[in-house]
Amino acid sequence: MSIEFGVDYYPEHWDRSRWETDARLMQALGVDVVRMGEFSWFKFEPERGAFDFSWLDEAIGLLARHGIKTIVGTPTAAPPKWLIDQDKSILPVDAEGITRGFGGRHHDCQSNAKYRGHCKRIVSVMAEHFRDNRAVIGWQVDNELGNSHDNLCTCDSCRSSFHAWLEKRYGTIGELNEVWGTNFWSQNYTAFSQIPVPRITPNSHNPSLLLDWKRFCSDLIVDFARAQIDILREKCPDQFITHNLMGFSEKVNYYDLGKGLDFVSHDQYPMGYWMSAAEKTPAALASTLDLIRAMKRKNFWIMEQQAGPAGWETLGQTPRPGQLGLWTAQSVAHGADTVVFFRWRTCTFGTEEFWHGILPHDGTPGRRYEELLKVIERLRPVMQDIKGICAKNDIAIVYDYDQYWALRIQPQHPKLSYVSSIQQYYEAFYRRNIPTDFLNPNDEFSGYKAIVAPLQFVLGPGMELKLRTYVSEGGVLVLTMRSGVKTETNKCRTDGSLPCGLVDMLGIEVLDYDCLRDADIPIVWGKGSDPALRVSGCWWSDIVTPHEGTQVLATYGEEFYRGTPAVTAHRYGKGMAYYVATQPSPALMRLIADHVTASAGLKRLVDTDESVEAVRRVGESAEYLIVMNHDGAAHDIHVPASWNHLLDETGSKIAPYGFMVFRKEKTPV
Ligand code: GLA
Ligand code: ZN
Repeated sequence: MSIEFGVDYYPEHWDRSRWETDARLMQALGVDVVRMGEFSWFKFEPERGAFDFSWLDEAIGLLARHGIKTIVGTPTAAPPKWLIDQDKSILPVDAEGITRGFGGRHHDCQSNAKYRGHCKRIVSVMAEHFRDNRAVIGWQVDNELGNSHDNLCTCDSCRSSFHAWLEKRYGTIGELNEVWGTNFWSQNYTAFSQIPVPRITPNSHNPSLLLDWKRFCSDLIVDFARAQIDILREKCPDQFITHNLMGFSEKVNYYDLGKGLDFVSHDQYPMGYWMSAAEKTPAALASTLDLIRAMKRKNFWIMEQQAGPAGWETLGQTPRPGQLGLWTAQSVAHGADTVVFFRWRTCTFGTEEFWHGILPHDGTPGRRYEELLKVIERLRPVMQDIKGICAKNDIAIVYDYDQYWALRIQPQHPKLSYVSSIQQYYEAFYRRNIPTDFLNPNDEFSGYKAIVAPLQFVLGPGMELKLRTYVSEGGVLVLTMRSGVKTETNKCRTDGSLPCGLVDMLGIEVLDYDCLRDADIPIVWGKGSDPALRVSGCWWSDIVTPHEGTQVLATYGEEFYRGTPAVTAHRYGKGMAYYVATQPSPALMRLIADHVTASAGLKRLVDTDESVEAVRRVGESAEYLIVMNHDGAAHDIHVPASWNHLLDETGSKIAPYGFMVFRKEKTPV
């Protein structure tokens, strides 16, 4: 049986008499799988050691009779009150040293040995119980690890785990003092046990301590997941293991977390109530999906795809007619093998009673159900043909947690954001329908014609060599401002001019710089004869001295460094290394993207209006072009005649928030 669509289902929220109706409606909709149980610890274990899985067994059985499989979630994101009451040390402690109380979820410390013991207990019992149930096809460990744990946890247990982590990394306290630079402000330590966790202080902590703390917190969560994964692997060899990630969230290094999973899943909320306008653009949404595909360089699942207006205390906008389908098509286009909608029916109680599911509060199928019915029918055959076939593109953007963390610690310009910087580069290519991968800095670089590695702020010898080798062997590389500034322990590098270690490859030197606090900086592309070539940069100007032979593509138009290079290109070995000395405005970004596109020989897929996205996917039997209109107005599209309409649409007009799928025979390789 192939699995393309699912829903997140909470049978424990509804009277038993309703389950049959739910199962029937799900089956009619085309649901193949449900995820259940990820917050139901109390229902599984109402008191210590008194396990009861009968209600879930019954739900699984009933759904199975309707042809629906189950993914079971381990419930460790919501430990019950009795468990916390037995040992209050399980509650997490925030940066102010205040213990966070019971009442939401994730009210746990992930290093706490007692809590780990409880998790081991419940996961082992669940694994034994569900391993032989043929309707259970897989597991989700915990739920959105890292969520609600932004500045958690600074308890005693986490402090000693941090000490052990540091000791393992640095060996001696002398070494730590050296690489952190603790001579500053008398912060020298004589034992690992003295090192603080980053509780609030009269002012900032040492940036080296903070970067290691971020690394430690990530490792801790990966280890927490690992403990569950190990149990499930051993006891349930026939069931898959996944986890639902949160896109560009920064608490956990998802490359590391992904290693233990069969595939990663992701929760895609295009209109989350907490999101800024910039996070909700079609390009930003596409970038999130492409990022998830990079985690294991393979296709993924959407474990929670938005299915209605989303909100807790406040709400986001209501998805417009068509948008649920459009977002589903976008997830599929960017690599989702299966899409699970959150949630089946809108709950009538609790924090999420305004987080709307497919069905409204009263359970009667309405607009959202009818819309998804058609979407599922249209997309299923395409999904079956492209399942498991991962797109591999010619250009990639490096996504590196060290940069993310180090620039969160010291953004330098108050608005500088690693994620928005990369999303702006991504968008320039996206707008031209040039499909882009994200790239783990530890993965192989050589398969790409072009690589963009924004803000390589923390740069160690390994990455330096990798970038250099990539270019010398023929790659086209784009590096930017604030590269080669820091060592891997987050101290400033001193081994030459900026960008340290890359000066000869880039054919430039940065001897001075300017934080653009009050105004953007005008930039002139080429000779700037056309007003369209007068663009700008923001956040930062590196003041660049080009070496002989370095091509200057753009210059600053103002300030004491007027006329000096803002964008350069330098031939190195068989390749080309670009340097972008500021954060480009969208117009400058497009000029850079066009230059890089031409120099790396990248091809645009099709020309579309700016709000229309086109993605090509290669299937088992054919190639598909998925065209998506992110605008509330219809648009004309010009798809080459070699592509045929796959679905029942005709013509070359794409409806508001619509999607169209085209097909053609596979081009022989
Ligand atoms: C997250 C969680 C879900 C639910 C939704 C809606 O993505 O994984 O459990 O809370 O958000 O808030
Ligand atoms: Zn803790």
